[in-house]
Amino acid sequence: MGRQLKFHIFRYNPEDPNSVPHTDDFDIEETGSMTIFIALTRIREEQDPSLQFDFCCRAGICGSCAMVINGRPGLACKALTKELSDEITLMPLPVFNLVGDLSVNTGTWFRSMNEKVSSWIHTDGTLDSNVQEERMENELAEEIYELERCVECGCCVAACGTANMRDDFVGAVALNRIARFMLDPRDQRTEKEYFEVIGTDEGVFGCMGLLACEDVCPKDLPLQDQLGILRRKMGWNALKQLFKIK
Ligand code: SF4
Ligand code: SF4
Ligand code: FES
Repeated sequence: MGRQLKFHIFRYNPEDPNSVPHTDDFDIEETGSMTIFIALTRIREEQDPSLQFDFCCRAGICGSCAMVINGRPGLACKALTKELSDEITLMPLPVFNLVGDLSVNTGTWFRSMNEKVSSWIHTDGTLDSNVQEERMENELAEEIYELERCVECGCCVAACGTANMRDDFVGAVALNRIARFMLDPRDQRTEKEYFEVIGTDEGVFGCMGLLACEDVCPKDLPLQDQLGILRRKMGWNALKQLFKIK
């Protein structure tokens, strides 16, 4: 027989004027290799079909099942119950708009962040589909792809003190995105142009540097290194502008 698990799950429907935020308790028996996602699916199938939570891939790829698991943002489909105590509290991610219960709308936040930092290659070049693709050194391509692995789950944003206090802060995820474009030789933006995008209090200078973002990232992205590199570059750029150095 497996352990008896007790789940305390946040419930609230912002669309229903009679709904009041509260937690509901559910008991289920643990099975081998049970994840939080499996437990939630069982609770929904066996005890409460109205329970809302998001998922898609069930394999840590789509980023949609992120929630706060015993106080720590993480992916429900990757979190094994055997690594948790027998009382498990589940809350929706803060910062994002609540859809209901454990489901939040990360899409609107990420779209706005991507627009704010112009998260695409800026080039005057035109695409000719008849010409062979431009080659890139393998080492550089791998460095870029390392930073491309973000699944936009929102865990780093939810764990970030600045993002929790200020809606205008772009978060470590955006700074990581910019670091990826700075590495890419196809992006023709100058350091001064990057500085205008993230060399502000909404960007790199709003970060308090406590690194909760890297601690919770389920894809182990090197957010700490990127923050350090950008902070040094943007600090140097700020000095150059102050002392009018070319
Ligand atoms: S290090 Fe910066 S971006 Fe990361 S969680 Fe802390 S304040 Fe947020
Ligand atoms: S950087 Fe990591 S924690 Fe943040 S959104 Fe991307 S995958 Fe999730
Ligand atoms: S369901 Fe896709 S990451 Fe969890």
